[in-house]
Amino acid sequence: MRNWVLITGCSTGIGRALVPLCRASGWGVVATARNIADLADLTPGEDLRILPLDVTNPATIASAAAACADLHLQALVNNAGYGQVGPLELLRPEELRAQFETNVIGLHTVTNAFLPLLRRAPGARILQVASMLGRLSIPLAGPYNASKHAVVALAESLRLEVGREVAVVLVEPGAIRTAFRDTLSKAWGDLPERARGTRYETVIARYMAKRKDQAERFAMDAGTCARRMLRALNAKHPPRRLVIGRDAFWAGKLKALLPAAWWESLLRRAYGLD
Ligand SMILES: NC(=O)c1ccc[n+]([C@@H]2O[C@H](COP(=O)([O-])OP(=O)(O)OC[C@H]3O[C@@H](n4cnc5c(N)ncnc54)[C@H](OP(=O)(O)O)[C@@H]3O)[C@@H](O)[C@H]2O)c1
Repeated sequence: MRNWVLITGCSTGIGRALVPLCRASGWGVVATARNIADLADLTPGEDLRILPLDVTNPATIASAAAACADLHLQALVNNAGYGQVGPLELLRPEELRAQFETNVIGLHTVTNAFLPLLRRAPGARILQVASMLGRLSIPLAGPYNASKHAVVALAESLRLEVGREVAVVLVEPGAIRTAFRDTLSKAWGDLPERARGTRYETVIARYMAKRKDQAERFAMDAGTCARRMLRALNAKHPPRRLVIGRDAFWAGKLKALLPAAWWESLLRRAYGLD
């Protein structure tokens, strides 16, 4: 009997990198995306099922769950997400709400829709993709930080509630080279105009100029990140936390070791907020 894994957000990035890796490792993959045309180039096979799934649309989640009822679903990877950035002072409530609808409510709804299927498979596991920004916060990314802290909190409660039946793995990557940073620019809409004439104008301009460059230099490639996640999918005893990348590892350590005032001053300086 084939073990299946359902992955959200397979159109690009980490989700996309996971699909062939899981298949090569013997998994059947339910690859999902908002727009399944984005998955048309995946090699067809008996080990692949393609389904439309928008995590903010409960009807697509319910039909995806119904379409998986015949599978031995051994794993779920809640990967779909995006980053809403911007200084909190300029943030519109609807932007914060939308960030939570996708990264938090969406992840929660998908989890609950697939839990009954996962429960049928002994040793099943859920990988909740959070971020290193689920454990620490940086300026200009308040909505994203908040959403990923919520993912961490939900996963830790879920583990206490269902962990004896279904393992809950928190995936906490640092910077990964994907479409993520292009999506950031789309999500911030007219933010640069909103910032004009405020104390954030130069801060945002500097952030926009630097962020892609930094990501290219320091980020891990999506395939390496996906391989770490595959190990957790295949592990007999999956880890509770999967901290991926040296930046994620060291930023967490540094925050724990430094006095809070030093840590804050380091971040303010890095973002030109001094
Ligand atoms: N890249 C990083 O540096 C980094 C670091 C830490 C954590 N993460 C997390 O890793 C996960 C994957 O991100 P990525 O880096 O691979 O970025 P990505 O290349 O932008 O991929 C994000 C995926 O999520 C999908 N998505 C967004 N909203 C969705 C919705 N409402 N319903 C279904 N799918 C949706 C996107 O689909 P569309 O193509 O339809 O938009 C895309 O497939 C995210 O949860 C992200 O927060 C990323």
